[in-house]
Amino acid sequence: MASVPSLSATLQQRVTAALAAAVPSAADADPLLRRSDRADFQANGVLGLAKRAKANPKELAGAVLAALPADEMVARVEVSGPGFLNITVTDAAITANLAARLADDRLGVPGKERPGITVIDYAQPNVAKEMHVGHLRSSVIGDAITRILRFAGETVIPRHHIGDWGTQFGMLIQYLIEHPHTLDHSEDAPDAGEASMSRLNRVYKAARTLFDADEAFKDRARRRVVDLQAGDKETLELWQRFVDESKIYFYSVYDKLDIRIVDEDIVGESGYNDMLVETCELLEKSGVAVRSNGALCVFFDDVKGKDGEPVPLIVQKADGGFGYPATDLSAVRDRTANLHADTLLYVVDARQALHFRMVFETARRAGWLTDEVTVRHLPFGTVLGKDGKPFKTREGESVRLEDLLDEAVARATAVVREKGEKIGLSEEEITGNGVQVGIGAVKYADLSTSLGRDYVFDLDRMVSLNGDTSVYIQYAYARTRSIFRKAAADQTAAAHPELPLAPAERALALHLDAFGDTLAEIAAVYEPHRLASYLFQLASLFTTFYEQCPVLTAEGGPAEVENRLFLCELTARTLHRGLDLLGIRTPERL
Ligand code: ARG
Repeated sequence: MASVPSLSATLQQRVTAALAAAVPSAADADPLLRRSDRADFQANGVLGLAKRAKANPKELAGAVLAALPADEMVARVEVSGPGFLNITVTDAAITANLAARLADDRLGVPGKERPGITVIDYAQPNVAKEMHVGHLRSSVIGDAITRILRFAGETVIPRHHIGDWGTQFGMLIQYLIEHPHTLDHSEDAPDAGEASMSRLNRVYKAARTLFDADEAFKDRARRRVVDLQAGDKETLELWQRFVDESKIYFYSVYDKLDIRIVDEDIVGESGYNDMLVETCELLEKSGVAVRSNGALCVFFDDVKGKDGEPVPLIVQKADGGFGYPATDLSAVRDRTANLHADTLLYVVDARQALHFRMVFETARRAGWLTDEVTVRHLPFGTVLGKDGKPFKTREGESVRLEDLLDEAVARATAVVREKGEKIGLSEEEITGNGVQVGIGAVKYADLSTSLGRDYVFDLDRMVSLNGDTSVYIQYAYARTRSIFRKAAADQTAAAHPELPLAPAERALALHLDAFGDTLAEIAAVYEPHRLASYLFQLASLFTTFYEQCPVLTAEGGPAEVENRLFLCELTARTLHRGLDLLGIRTPERL
């Protein structure tokens, strides 16, 4: 494992040093180095520095230029405009640096300098309820961020804060006591997850109907909640059956989604039951929370309702019950004190933003969150239908996640089949690829828009071969593999820094150079959509390269063939690694 600094990072250092040489008092000046179309890079930092040093920008640029001599890395530096520096690097330096990347398992990508412990709260469906598109977003985004952070060397502890507690369990458990066989498994259905969900649905609907119609049942259900909260053994056992049954369903959906969730990371709302009383006591004793009309409340100057009245965070209700805030506050305590997290992330719907703002502020006042801990709600937007309204079925019901995934796979399979039959893929390969392309399409559509924005769920667009889609990127990957399958035995990938690069090669190569820096930025700001756009650009640049630069029939002879194969190989490895960090697979043949 050897990390390889990018050419642009090395150049950044060189230009920084040149700036300092020109203006000794400006050792810390940022050269503001950017990729540019005019040359390879442009440094815009001279202008600001000239202002600070009260110097003529053009003259200063000349002095920096003099301190930045051409050598094996810098081919050419020119002053342009009022004092920009256009910098061209040498082909040899580009190729040699990429060769060092290819030689490394991690493609030369360095890990975080000071990795820490991140607890990330994502993939949090609710027990005895169907999963919907909102749960899709949290799971897909959370999984990608987990992968990206782990690759950066961070210790990541997932917490799946499932909704497994609350008054509705009184109703469910009471119903099960009175109709003991409703959750029994009949002959095992082919899809165990779906069967579980339909059993749970049956109980849920029947219990609800009874609850709404029958006052006596309602009373019994309410008493059952008390038993549940008191930890009555029989009641808890029945509650556990609902949880277990739901997990069968959750796991089947996550399996379809190709997202790995493990039991030990599922710590639902119930997991904090033992802490709730203490959490409230601590808040009340410290004065962070006060009693108001019997309820234990935390007030905020800047949180008011429409009527101008303050809206408190209710930590304990007047009847003694605890809700969502008490659980989340206890979770903060657990994650900081017991799991030693220095970063807390919450991948949760934007509509819960106020809740988290109040929870974090409360935890700060109570001293559970200190300045040493970074806490971030990563809010995501709503999935919309083609009509621009929240995604619903024609009947106005929320769309079942599984139906949606099944449809995506069916559409993708049709797309894959058309090309696959031409290149002689077996039926098995076609269905296998259909799954990887369909699930990839759903994830990519979700990950390629910035988190906070809503997006339209449009399967036609998502599985399109042209456009900003995962299929497009997967095709680019498969194309690299096909080139290698067609190569003759003596045609192998090898870097030749002595060869000049064609424009399409340079563009591809300089983008490959940016992989590590891009990942480091993304890991610092939790924005997977930037990785998606990096990969889409990489696939586009590769496509242009492929059109303009014949690989196996390169005119420059065997060395050029090797060098182009080398670029193909590094592109393939980068696409594969990048898509993997988004949780998306790369079929070998498409
Ligand atoms: N179960 C909740 C839902 O379905 C999301 C939980 C979010 N996490 C949390 N710590 N509150 O909306």
